[in-house]
Amino acid sequence: MTSPEPIYPPGARLDTAAPQTRILGGAAAIAELPEPSVSDTFQTPMWLVALLGLILYWGMVYLDQNSGEFHPLVFNQGERLPDVEARVPKSDAEALAVKGRRIYGTYCVACHQPNGRGTPGQFPPLVESEWALASGPNRIIRIVLNGLQGPITVKGQDFNNTMLPWRDQLTDDDIAAVLSFVRGNKEWGHSATPVTPAQVKAIRAATESRGATSWSPAELLGIPEKD
Ligand code: HEC
Repeated sequence: MTSPEPIYPPGARLDTAAPQTRILGGAAAIAELPEPSVSDTFQTPMWLVALLGLILYWGMVYLDQNSGEFHPLVFNQGERLPDVEARVPKSDAEALAVKGRRIYGTYCVACHQPNGRGTPGQFPPLVESEWALASGPNRIIRIVLNGLQGPITVKGQDFNNTMLPWRDQLTDDDIAAVLSFVRGNKEWGHSATPVTPAQVKAIRAATESRGATSWSPAELLGIPEKD
């Protein structure tokens, strides 16, 4: 059995010199230190503050002059100017195609597939489709704006399914971009004329009163391919 540790008052010390260990008067027994005075506290030297300020200022100027405005060419190792330039669209048509590819990948790919060939019996192909590659975009703009429902023949295959309307989701620019991408996609062997936002705008206005009613392929065949 060990006896519990005795608890001493703060500042108490053991008098080991005494024959038996005993506790001396605690805090009161310690000689008091002199009160700290203002003159004793450490004064931060002003030259050190000035030096730190200067170093900070120099650092910022250095960064400003050498960061190349955080341009990726400065920070991405291995990136070369020609690679960067190759990614920048060179013409409006190319910029439209880039945007069109993005919209296709978001809004059309689920049904018409990444390769544009659709799914037999379900979703018609866009690759080499006589609808997509018509002499003008009058019908396909309407298809994207209001959707399509009913029997249709594309490249000799019959489909009878539903495509939903995109009138409220896609802007004139978006529709022009995605249809230009479809019509001009070289990977699909296409080189049909692009679609302009003005063409989409005009057809959107002309078909406003249709509301959300989709087109039937038969109805579209009565509309001239181009103006
Ligand atoms: C939910 C599936 C679905 C999505 C998403 C979809 N389509 Fe369609 N699309 C269809 C179906 C189904 C048809 C045929 C409808 C029918 O049978 O009458 C069709 C027909 C077409 C046609 C005419 C036929 C052809 O193959 O050339 C074009 C052009 C077309 N879609 C373009 C687009 C574009 C552009 C987008 C993206 C903005 C898109 N579609 C998104 C299902 C879809």
